[in-house]
Amino acid sequence: MDVVHEIAGMQRRAAEARLARKTIAVVPTMGALHAGHAALIREARSRADLVITTVFVNPTQFGPGEDFARYPRSPERDALCAAEAGSDILFAPEGAAMYPAGYSTFVEVAGITDVLEGRARPGHFRGVATIVAKLFLITSPHIAVFGQKDAQQVAVIRRLIADLNYPIDLIVVPIVRDADGVALSSRNAYLTPAQRREATVLHRSLQRAEACVREGERDSAAVIAEMRGLIAGGSGGDVEYISIADAATLQEQASIRTGTTILISLAVRFGHTRLIDNCIVEV
Ligand code: PAJ
Repeated sequence: MDVVHEIAGMQRRAAEARLARKTIAVVPTMGALHAGHAALIREARSRADLVITTVFVNPTQFGPGEDFARYPRSPERDALCAAEAGSDILFAPEGAAMYPAGYSTFVEVAGITDVLEGRARPGHFRGVATIVAKLFLITSPHIAVFGQKDAQQVAVIRRLIADLNYPIDLIVVPIVRDADGVALSSRNAYLTPAQRREATVLHRSLQRAEACVREGERDSAAVIAEMRGLIAGGSGGDVEYISIADAATLQEQASIRTGTTILISLAVRFGHTRLIDNCIVEV
């Protein structure tokens, strides 16, 4: 696997691959790679001739007071993980190259960014859309692979691809979990052992919610109350939000309609660590 730091060098490699009629897949990440990222890279490997994994801790998607400075960074391990999962190129640009002095262009996806994570983290998706738009232009992919772990991010990128006419197929990989159900996340590294045990309640609460809906519960507030009860009883986690929304529009649904697909999602704080998780239910 080659590690490329220069933007121009990456653009040249992508242009050469396109000339050689190779299909290119990109897997954007912020590094601290784990088995969830590896699943995305393997998916990309199965679909493309050239697999590019990008590692860039993107400052513009972190709010003031968020964890940009202490976000885990592990370049050597990332290179090993990406290579092992089948990546051909690891593209790791410098912050000053991606956002040089005078940088002033941003991509704003309106509407679906006002809710859920967008509401809790103002400006977050402006940063995500901007960096992903840049990474698409630098790596020139036919295919982009993202994880269901960040359900709203997927919806934002889907909108970005459609609205800016990127000729890119978006592939979404299911959430990879540890054996105890906790969704893999680079931020799990912040958890104390006790918090890590308590974090298992998130997946259990989503499973309980899904069971409620399957048993016929149609009142979102009742499902959410059940989840809150489980989380309060089983952990010191502080619920930031629990949402039941239409999976396509992300609009919250007071009552759950049969025949629709819903996204049940949540953000919960354990101390200073904020975890998100979700599940999709076809009702
Ligand atoms: P990051 O949090 O590193 O995640 C990179 C990709 O891995 C995302 O598509 C995310 O959904 C996916 N992912 C993370 N944990 C996963 C898990 N347990 N199972 C499946 N997929 C998982 O998301 C970002 O970085 C950034 O916002 C980025 C898109 C790179 C833009 O900066």
